[in-house]
Amino acid sequence: MARQGHAATLAPTGDHNMSTPSLPAAQVDRRIQPLGFGLGLRPAHYAEFLSAPQDVDWLEIISENYMVQGGKPLAMLDAIRCDYPVVMHGVSMSIGSIEPLNRQYLDALRALARRIEPAWISDHLCWTGVHGVNLHDLYPLPYTEEAIRHVVTRIRQVQDILERRLVIENVSSYLSYADSSMSEWAFLTAIAEEADCHLLLDVNNIYVSSVNHGFDPLDFINGVPAHRVQQIHLAGHSNVDGFIIDTHDAPIIDPVFDLYAAAWRRLGAVSSMIERDDNIPPLETLLTELAHVRGIAAACKHERTNAHAEPAQAPTPCPT
Ligand SMILES: [Fe+2]
Repeated sequence: MARQGHAATLAPTGDHNMSTPSLPAAQVDRRIQPLGFGLGLRPAHYAEFLSAPQDVDWLEIISENYMVQGGKPLAMLDAIRCDYPVVMHGVSMSIGSIEPLNRQYLDALRALARRIEPAWISDHLCWTGVHGVNLHDLYPLPYTEEAIRHVVTRIRQVQDILERRLVIENVSSYLSYADSSMSEWAFLTAIAEEADCHLLLDVNNIYVSSVNHGFDPLDFINGVPAHRVQQIHLAGHSNVDGFIIDTHDAPIIDPVFDLYAAAWRRLGAVSSMIERDDNIPPLETLLTELAHVRGIAAACKHERTNAHAEPAQAPTPCPT
């Protein structure tokens, strides 16, 4: 499909990516080969992606924006897909809901996947509504054994329908449940291992939740199974009345860059991208921010030793 021989490669990293740390034999690495450094595709930048090659290795789309029969956005995506690997990122699966899976939604998601051949499909570990009402937000789950069993069953069903592993993302949260009996990263790990799915680690969400709930974000980074982390999100956020909110409307701050560096030191090369959903700046601004992400990864790769399996250290200042 790619005009530039640029499309996503679907081989597992274990066979091809020498920069990814080797893993214990029991942890079979079925991740897709890292794509490099990407951006979220937004309508404001369609023209620039279509008019000239951009310094972006891959693009992430919001799946729901293209789950239609036709129209300009889908035409733009079809054209841009010819030049860039694409991954699909959804916000409506509601994998944690107690309501039945939305088969109509999943069929439309599968149809879009067959059309654009994404490297993978992701959504959030959350619930988005109840009693047929979509609350248009990503709500966290209680971290319980019951919730693990519930979500694992649903992820397996989704994976059967989509005929591929799902990639699930940690959400930012502003509340916790009295019933929770484990950490968020223990919950995420149990689900990923039992459902045999992949993880999208959003380091901004980890930072936001760590501040709001008072945990060490490095415990999160060190607590997830490295062999399942398929993708990393970076984003900006807002400070509101003593809480920080995951708004994706501002530049990434240094503590989140530092957390990305810590994640790289533990995980090695992972497909990484910037999410920007509001106050969309010129593409050039995002490319400059993405170049900074590349620089951090390059510096981490340079400093890397064979001690990849050791816990991440406290973040050090980002390379500039
Ligand atoms: Fe994210």
